[in-house]
Amino acid sequence: MSADQTGRLLGDWLADGPAYLALATAFRALITDGRLPVGTRIPSERVLAAQCRIGRNTVTAAYSLLRTEGYLEGRRGAGSFTALPPGVHRPQPAAPVAVSRSADTPIDLTIAQVPAPQALLAQAVRDAAGHVGDYTNDLTHDRIGIRELRQAIADRYTERGLPTCADEIMVTTGAYQGWGLLLRLVAQRFDPVMVDSPTYPDALDAIRSLAGRPLPVGLGPEGWDPELIGSVCRQARPALAYLMPDHHNPTGHVMPDDVRRAVVTAARASGTLLVVDETLSELTLDGPEPTPMACFGGRSDVVTIGSLSKVFWGGLNLGWIRATPSLINRLAALRGPGDAGNSVVNQLIARRLYEDYDAVLRERRQMLTLQRDELAGALRRRLPEWTFTRPRGGLCLWIDLGQRVSSRLAAMAPAFGVEVLTGSKFAVEGTLDGHLRLPFVQPPGTLTEAVDRLADAFGAVTAHRTRRGALLAA
Ligand SMILES: Cc1ncc(COP(=O)(O)O)c(C=O)c1O
Repeated sequence: MSADQTGRLLGDWLADGPAYLALATAFRALITDGRLPVGTRIPSERVLAAQCRIGRNTVTAAYSLLRTEGYLEGRRGAGSFTALPPGVHRPQPAAPVAVSRSADTPIDLTIAQVPAPQALLAQAVRDAAGHVGDYTNDLTHDRIGIRELRQAIADRYTERGLPTCADEIMVTTGAYQGWGLLLRLVAQRFDPVMVDSPTYPDALDAIRSLAGRPLPVGLGPEGWDPELIGSVCRQARPALAYLMPDHHNPTGHVMPDDVRRAVVTAARASGTLLVVDETLSELTLDGPEPTPMACFGGRSDVVTIGSLSKVFWGGLNLGWIRATPSLINRLAALRGPGDAGNSVVNQLIARRLYEDYDAVLRERRQMLTLQRDELAGALRRRLPEWTFTRPRGGLCLWIDLGQRVSSRLAAMAPAFGVEVLTGSKFAVEGTLDGHLRLPFVQPPGTLTEAVDRLADAFGAVTAHRTRRGALLAA
């Protein structure tokens, strides 16, 4: 990482007390928050001192402290690389305690899925049954999906400002499967695959299980840093990148247009296949709809994966890949034993649902806006020390807890009647233990009750920490 980038990430790090301690604290926070990925080579003492206009001794003392703590590795003179001390690498959950506040089933805040529009779904199933006869003589069940559905998906892109034809769409069993097929086609063993940090955990699991190596690029308070992405592309030349520019899961960020342009250019220059997950793109709650990332490049610059899981229902198991017809043919050829493509009946149901797409989306947005505001309000009342930016869309709030207790809170919460995922689940290296993802997919009353329970659980976690601190100090 260049001195200039490091200086920008460190920001205004000076604080009361010795400067070397403040510098070490700023570095530590960047590493544990995942903004400075583990394994990054940081500037030499001399170069950083010149960049920050401070004495070299200050940098030497800060690096030496970080090395002692385990946040830096490597010998002086041979380059220093960011690292995580063993204790931080896998955040240690607290043992669950037996203080059950509620006998009910815990409120599940781990899942970011919406319930199906029941009446419409039932109608779509009936209508699909009426059409299935059109297909029963077709014995060449293909692997890219029925044309009617591919056309409906393509038309939706065209309406969103990205002209698309049916031959550029391949139907999959979900966005997740689309990502898996792209990884299998492009990534070789141990190839670096660039990802946002934080990011969608299943995307990381797919990279690990399909032999790639996730290469995290940290998102800052404002989202993506195009210069950082550009330099990672130039230096590491990732085989693929998996980014989520619209209503990012979990942070809610939306990538500005100029950054989209810069990212597409950087990926093209490094020969990186840019894969954009648009699963959440249509869940805009305030402000303008994001322009599809593929509008910022040529026909083969961006591959998009999408899904009906968040607008309609996850149980449909229906997603797609938007790519050039030749790439689609290669992806379809990868579908082998155990994956003969999507069921025609399921695709007919999805095709029928497209007729009511706008109406369902309008309802979804209204419901999610109400729920987001309810959750945000309840958190501000009960847990004012937690901070977050109200997202413009998507399904989740990304909370800064102000202290690294997310995994302890996640372990403690079920005893108080609520289940949450720790922030480190969304990181490559077990960082982000100061964050928590809270979906707003439950009804408003449930969300308020969940926040009450979380506040009690948080109180128990922090009381436990204070007691332990006092014991250690005694
Ligand atoms: C960002 C993102 N991508 C993909 C998925 C999975 O989509 P699908 O159900 O279509 O595989 C999810 C589901 O939570 C998600 O949040």
